[in-house]
Amino acid sequence: MAIQTIQSVNEMQSHSIGLRSSGHLIGLVPTMGSLHEGHLSLIDIAKEKTDKVIVSIFVNPTQFGPNEDFDKYPRTLKEDCEKCHQRGADIIFNPTIQEMYPGGYSTFVEEEQISSGLCGVSRPHHLRGVTTVCLKLFNITRPDIAVFGRKDAQQCAVIRKMVLDLNIPTEIVVGPTQRDADGMATSSRNAYLSDKQRKEALNISNSLQIARDMVNSGTKSVDRIVAEVIHHLSHSRRIRVIYVQVVDRSTMEPAREILPGTQQLCVAAWVDQTRLIDNIEL
Ligand code: PAF
Repeated sequence: MAIQTIQSVNEMQSHSIGLRSSGHLIGLVPTMGSLHEGHLSLIDIAKEKTDKVIVSIFVNPTQFGPNEDFDKYPRTLKEDCEKCHQRGADIIFNPTIQEMYPGGYSTFVEEEQISSGLCGVSRPHHLRGVTTVCLKLFNITRPDIAVFGRKDAQQCAVIRKMVLDLNIPTEIVVGPTQRDADGMATSSRNAYLSDKQRKEALNISNSLQIARDMVNSGTKSVDRIVAEVIHHLSHSRRIRVIYVQVVDRSTMEPAREILPGTQQLCVAAWVDQTRLIDNIEL
């Protein structure tokens, strides 16, 4: 039997309301599809904590800038449905753009502090698009919990803050970053990389390990760690660094000195035409 797929906002909302009133706990895993092990591990977490798991698959246009990869973002709905089914999700919510943003749509949600640094600088409207679509997805699917991946650390912090500030009755759960055997963080955008590019992209996760090792061996200077990471990345001809920053894990404010257990190093870089991010807790 195929997994239940819902495209209509109204149908999804009344279905969720029905599930809640018959006592079910709902877990939401918001995604843009092109599902990989990172997403599937979030389904596992949602299944452990709830008894009805909804996976939303929606390539959200409002979180892409005008010259970004919205058009070429991988869309693999058939395979995604199969993966969700095999992993034991219950429902796929796969609305059209018209369903989510009908003509005349004009309301956006903006978090103004945590969003201001890191990706907020290089992708100005990205996080506003993320908070807007997540609030819409929460209102449509009424989840008890929503599960996000730690690779998008700033996104997680911004959504937590939105939930707190707007009194949204959904618990935000963050699952660990999934990595391939070579250490590369799983990401739908890895599909853009040729073998050569992927080999060079590996320097990103390697550089995070270098930072971790420095902290483990007692380095307290953020400047030294950042310089070492940039130095490591500069060996790769294809990599252009967007940012390398040590920040507080919940506020995303830049750190001056290492305080073990409270911070993370965040990296964003272009590998030729592909923008990748990764982070490690320090
Ligand atoms: O992380 C993502 O894939 C997206 O930003 C999200 C949370 C599904 C919102 O479109």
